[in-house]
Amino acid sequence: MEKIARRRIAKTDLVVLLGDITIQDTDAIVNAANSGLLGGGGVDGAIHRAAGSTVDGECQAYVANHGPLPPGMAMWTNSGNLKARYVIHTVGPIYHSDEESEPVLRSAYQESLRLAKTLGLESISFPAISAGAYGYPLNKAAHVAIEAITEYLQQGGSSLLLVRLVCFSDASYSAFHRALKSAQSFDEGRGAKSEITVTVHLFSAPREFTGKSEIEVSLPTGARLSELIEHLSEEYPGLSKYLPYSKLAVNHAISTAELILNNGDTVALLPPVGGG
Ligand code: APR
Repeated sequence: MEKIARRRIAKTDLVVLLGDITIQDTDAIVNAANSGLLGGGGVDGAIHRAAGSTVDGECQAYVANHGPLPPGMAMWTNSGNLKARYVIHTVGPIYHSDEESEPVLRSAYQESLRLAKTLGLESISFPAISAGAYGYPLNKAAHVAIEAITEYLQQGGSSLLLVRLVCFSDASYSAFHRALKSAQSFDEGRGAKSEITVTVHLFSAPREFTGKSEIEVSLPTGARLSELIEHLSEEYPGLSKYLPYSKLAVNHAISTAELILNNGDTVALLPPVGGG
């Protein structure tokens, strides 16, 4: 079976494939680096070896001038002997918990994409950041990667036409392939309707502001969690003091969300029901 899967997001092809990132011919490849940019094992070691000493030199100069690169951030160097024109170095999180590590992993992908835009790149390849030595559970790492990239591209304005996720093992490919497909089937379900209705369940205190235990909210397809929050705040001003921080990142597409209100209550969002 050919190990490649793709999905279109706006004008960009997001492709998951089995392969070696050091031989990708995209404008940039992304390195899963450490904060010291010293090179290491895994994909970092492979990229530094294949690129040659100019990349080491530029990394060392960067750290001398700017200090260590914090987790979740990205910088770029030239690419030495590689086919790609640039290496974008980013630092993923060492996995501790979803709550702590997910925003950092998301940021590592999105900061790399921002840098690609600054450089005007049309194509980029990512490895499975943090899913090796840094211990991020593979399936979770794959979902975060697909979501972070999708969210960034859906905002529009990127110069990228191709984003590759290059998986180094069958297990990694399976995880990324599954994550890509589950994001795709959700999008297709949503795309069939022009409007979705979500049911928001309210508990205890927030209910006082609405007189209801359930609120139905109609939103356009493609709506994001932030739009739901905005809508609820406008419709029920008293509720806004409970709205919300979410354990999901803001802008998370409405899929399986549950909001955690800041009084500790939970607001469950049912999957979309019906259309208009
Ligand atoms: N091409 C694509 N992917 C690769 C390659 C390669 N040539 N070599 C390894 N990988 C994969 C691994 O199989 C893993 O799925 O990259 C993924 C990320 O693993 P690591 O390289 O261990 O990266 P990470 O988990 O982010 O840990 C970073 O490891 O090498 C050190 O200096 C690096 O300290 C940093 C840490």
